[in-house]
Amino acid sequence: MDERTRLPALYPITLKKSSQAECSTIEPKWAGQCPACHEWNTLVETAPFLKTARTKTGQKVSLKPAESFTVKTALSSQTGYTFSTGIGEFDRVLGPGLTKGGVYLLAGQPGIGKSTLLTQLALSLQPPLSRGGGQQAGGVLYVCSEENPAQVASRITRLQGLSSQADHIQLLNTSCVENIIDALKPTISNRDLKSESCDLICIVDSIQSVSTVTNPTTPGSPSQIRDSASFLIQAAKEHSVPLIIVGHVTKDGDIAGPKMLEHMVDTVLELSGDRQHLLRLLRTVKNRFGPTDETGIFRMDGGGLNEVKDPGAILLEGRVKNAPGSCLTMIMEGTRPLTVEIQALVVASPLPIPRRIAKGISGNRLQLICAILTKHLNLSLATKDVFVNVTGGLEVKDPGADLGIALAIVSSVKDKPLPENSICFGELGLLGEIRKVGFTDKMLKEAKSLGYTIVFSPLSHASIRSIKLT
Ligand code: TYD
Ligand code: MG
Repeated sequence: MDERTRLPALYPITLKKSSQAECSTIEPKWAGQCPACHEWNTLVETAPFLKTARTKTGQKVSLKPAESFTVKTALSSQTGYTFSTGIGEFDRVLGPGLTKGGVYLLAGQPGIGKSTLLTQLALSLQPPLSRGGGQQAGGVLYVCSEENPAQVASRITRLQGLSSQADHIQLLNTSCVENIIDALKPTISNRDLKSESCDLICIVDSIQSVSTVTNPTTPGSPSQIRDSASFLIQAAKEHSVPLIIVGHVTKDGDIAGPKMLEHMVDTVLELSGDRQHLLRLLRTVKNRFGPTDETGIFRMDGGGLNEVKDPGAILLEGRVKNAPGSCLTMIMEGTRPLTVEIQALVVASPLPIPRRIAKGISGNRLQLICAILTKHLNLSLATKDVFVNVTGGLEVKDPGADLGIALAIVSSVKDKPLPENSICFGELGLLGEIRKVGFTDKMLKEAKSLGYTIVFSPLSHASIRSIKLT
């Protein structure tokens, strides 16, 4: 068949001049004249997918046969063993620590502290990291594709003071995926991939700012992110290098780029918090190596992100006691009970449709709780604006905070403070019942140990109607 009449439906056509010199333009369909160089009859169809893989020079690519393992040999290969990050809260979230050959995606809002956390991680890791904890000179490869090396170096100095202790960190100034993969290679020849140590860790900050030459789209585009991540992950797995990738999030809070990115990596970590407040929470959204219900709690200050052992103290800092509209609530952050203050303000509304404004909880949840209170406590909220706030900039998703939100609203409407030394937790049902939540016993024990004498919970009250505020 004549080449010009064969119009491929899906595959691109590359334009070539008849003199064999390429004008390098790619067209999706055949045309008589090249729109770039205006030559006639120079279009040639190229097959993008070859039946036999070939190199650029046209030689056949010899494919490596796939390795096959039994469970026993896979276990003894040691390529997947884990080591500590040196940051307690980070280890708590990851479960066993970092895994050799594991790929981690750290996502978060701009300015939340992703680069700070990874710089601290790079400082605390002193490869090679072995099970025995032996430490010799090794390397952390920090790819500065978003910032320049001087910016990262100044953060290292800010965080550590002594930059001499950061000699194991190599700052790679590139945004080209092929350069990153090349930088992983030289150390490979003399590396024993099956050894019980790991001498290289790679941090890519961020996936939105790197690109591969095989994809002509701009950095940050979904196809570019997919291709770049796929090459990097392939290299990390092949060479048993733990790879940590930074990912941006969109306005709606989702990880920017294709959803496939989350499927491709082993672990998805999310760093969240309110930039106006000090607390930062590190959670696992997905974890192939450990639990997904742990939360690492950090405090951002002049010296970077510091581990917090008593987050309740920060959350209750400056609290006004005995104020109507304030309710102390116990929530679960991972497997840790946490005391937060929920505040409510209920005022007469000048609007035909009164407002329900929530900060730290979802708007729908507030609507629902207002409806339950209207029905089961005869609270007249139809002409009132209701504002609810969780102090400390926390985003509370735990259903156990329902009772706290409800009691804060009731306390504000009645203008009566909740009893001193009281705390609450429990989920509210549509029938006004207080339902049990996970870890009830743990929360009760924690409340007692913190010295709270009155605990409103599903164990003390069966329904919201039975709670009488004096
Ligand atoms: P950064 O880690 O660059 O955020 P991201 O990479 O998530 O965009 O920095 C976050 C903010 O933290 C920045 O506004 C400066 C602040 N910061 C501190 O408060 N203390 C510190 O020690 C450092 C390094 C940064
Ligand atoms: Mg950053």
